[in-house]
Amino acid sequence: MARILIVVASQDGQTRRIAERLADGLRHDRHEVRLEPATPFPPVAGADGIIIAASVHLGRHPAALVRAVRAHAIVFRHLPTAFLSVCLSAACSRPEQRAEADRYLHDFIDRTGWRPDLAASAAGALTFSRYGPLRASLVRAVARLKGLPIDPRSDREYTDWNDVRRFAEAFSALLAATPARRLAARSAADRGP
Ligand SMILES: Cc1cc2nc3c(=O)[nH]c(=O)nc-3n(C[C@H](O)[C@H](O)[C@H](O)COP(=O)(O)O)c2cc1C
Repeated sequence: MARILIVVASQDGQTRRIAERLADGLRHDRHEVRLEPATPFPPVAGADGIIIAASVHLGRHPAALVRAVRAHAIVFRHLPTAFLSVCLSAACSRPEQRAEADRYLHDFIDRTGWRPDLAASAAGALTFSRYGPLRASLVRAVARLKGLPIDPRSDREYTDWNDVRRFAEAFSALLAATPARRLAARSAADRGP
């Protein structure tokens, strides 16, 4: 059994739902899971593994999360870690939009200097019922750009829950495969000099 911290940056709730599903999967594998919002960034001491799940808005993950992850990149090196990027581009069938989802993910990795053991993009949702007029018109423009047909009168979930389940399984397998010496190095880092 490992202690896993899942840090979530979600504006409209879909990344939170995805993180909860990840937590369910990992608990099913008998891990202890703590789910925390990204702001303020939670303490990581005591965690045996960390997952960060964050959504993309207007082409970027939250700047505050980039700063926090950059500040933790050295600590993260000693732990099994994973990054799940949630966006609309991952729901698109056009190859250039799938490439755009990859770009968001790699842009986050480049800007933080963090090298997660596992990283993937997941399709999010459009929740027009939560948007004000400005965000609704922004998201309409984003969807048009991506060639994604939308109906602003109703919410739509694009998330593939099988992908989410497979991501949780892959993280469980990663924990099982993590050499004891890496976890020992983490414990030493926790204890400090
Ligand atoms: C104002 C706004 C801007 C968005 N910009 C992008 C974008 O640039 N690229 C993209 O792929 N998805 C974009 N999305 C889609 C979100 O990534 C998607 O709705 C996701 O599910 C949001 O996650 P959350 O509910 O956890 O905040 C945008 C959504 C909104 C509301």
